[in-house]
Amino acid sequence: MWFGLVAGLAAVATGFAWGETAQEQWQLATRYTARVGFPLLILAYISRPLHQLAPNGFTRAALARRRWIGLGFACSHTVHLISLTMAFRLAGETPSAVTLVGGGLAYALLYAMALTSSNAAQRAMGRWWKRLHRFGIHYLWLIFAQSYLGRVFNPDTMWIGAIFGSIALAAAGVRFAAWLKSRS
Ligand code: HEM
Repeated sequence: MWFGLVAGLAAVATGFAWGETAQEQWQLATRYTARVGFPLLILAYISRPLHQLAPNGFTRAALARRRWIGLGFACSHTVHLISLTMAFRLAGETPSAVTLVGGGLAYALLYAMALTSSNAAQRAMGRWWKRLHRFGIHYLWLIFAQSYLGRVFNPDTMWIGAIFGSIALAAAGVRFAAWLKSRS
């Protein structure tokens, strides 16, 4: 879990090292905190389906630590939230209503998942636990996928969009393949 926080803070430090004005530093910090959170979310997203498809030492270790990987993502993305708040404040801007609603729902789901990531909560919530966590992780994946795939059409961000967008699509492919396997 702590590595998510450390990675998020390292992303902020990188933004501060590269940016020239305070506003640019927080904007870069926002960008880099999303980039360090992405692999954590993807690992949490595919650890179970990957283990179903091709069990090995790595998938077993990832599956056993999935809860901590998810909490690590919650930490790094809290740093994303702080960074973007600072960036918007310094720029004197407000995110669009669509971003606020879509991103706000993502954070509400993220913190609901983090707060219920214990065995006791799992028992108490019954089938709602699985519904919340399944919907939440798909929704978080969706925000990443649409953010990165949307960047493919901008020449400045084409490469990061193509690479990270492809990883997001491949992760969905892994989940789909595992779902097909579980049905057959
Ligand atoms: C209200 C909530 C949110 C707001 C206002 C917001 C705002 C921002 C801003 C300003 C950037 C920097 C854009 C740039 O300069 O490149 C950014 C980047 C990004 N955010 Fe967020 N964000 C929010 C929530 C989220 C969530 C929940 C996710 C994922 C689950 C996410 C994923 C990303 C990604 C993938 C990037 C692109 C990073 C890159 O260029 O590699 N954001 N966000």
